[in-house]
Amino acid sequence: MIGARLREWARRHSDKGRYTPVGIIFHWVMAALVILQLALGWYTTRMYAGGDRLTAYQWHSDLGLLILFLAFLRFAWRMMVPGPINDADKGGWQTNIAYATHVVFYLCFFGLPITGWMMWSALGDGRPLYVAGLVPWPQMPFGGLDPQWQWAILDWAEDLHQMFILILIILIPLHVGAALKHHWWDRDDVLEGMLPDVKDADDHREGLTHKPKRPRSPRVTGAG
Ligand code: HEM
Ligand code: HEM
Repeated sequence: MIGARLREWARRHSDKGRYTPVGIIFHWVMAALVILQLALGWYTTRMYAGGDRLTAYQWHSDLGLLILFLAFLRFAWRMMVPGPINDADKGGWQTNIAYATHVVFYLCFFGLPITGWMMWSALGDGRPLYVAGLVPWPQMPFGGLDPQWQWAILDWAEDLHQMFILILIILIPLHVGAALKHHWWDRDDVLEGMLPDVKDADDHREGLTHKPKRPRSPRVTGAG
């Protein structure tokens, strides 16, 4: 019953080629957190060994676990409420690459925190973990393992953590570039579908939320 109502509410947005406000908030909050986390992780590994570095790792873990928690919520939401059909869904290789990129982003949202959590647990010093620095989070049960196994897990998880980081570093600029290309070059509705729905005060046409696009000025051919 609630699910059906929710889907009905969501359809009113997706029929206009837009993500729901919930989807939009998830997108921008997680985009900001992931970029912050990339910077924090990079900075932390370059700090001198010592207390400050440990505190920075603690921040990195707290924030990463918050991303994991949000990833579960976002994935559940996405399974319940499909995304909009917009100008990005015309088919062909660009559409396929866009879908594949989104799937890989979701894999990173889970893969990075889980491999980070594995590393932290294999270190074996029992430092407590918290989601967002507030909610206690358990260690994985690696404490009793042979040190040889702990090292193997640490090594393996570190390699995977770095693989996911590399994937993000390649895909984020491609994704942002594609969104800007849709907006400035193709002049279609893809980016607007992921922006807050602001009514255009100058235009009172029914259901219109953004100014209609000006067609790109025709090329100057030199004739005449
Ligand atoms: C989306 C979430 C995450 C992102 C984007 C991320 C990103 C990063 C980055 C960029 C580095 C630096 C890698 C390098 O320069 O070698 C790093 C290292 C690290 N991260 Fe994360 N991380 C995330 C989640 C987590 C979580 C949840 C934990 C722990 C619970 C964690 C634990 C670590 C550890 C222990 C290192 C140091 C690894 C090393 O020394 O090579 N990360 N992370
Ligand atoms: C300035 C930065 C960004 C812009 C302009 C942007 C723009 C967009 C747009 C327009 C869409 C909708 C695409 C469509 O309808 O087919 C989208 C979807 C998506 N973006 Fe971004 N994005 C940005 C940053 C990021 C970052 C940093 C991440 C992840 C680390 C990310 C992850 C995603 C995901 C997972 C989706 C699919 C959403 C879903 O269907 O559930 N975005 N983005």
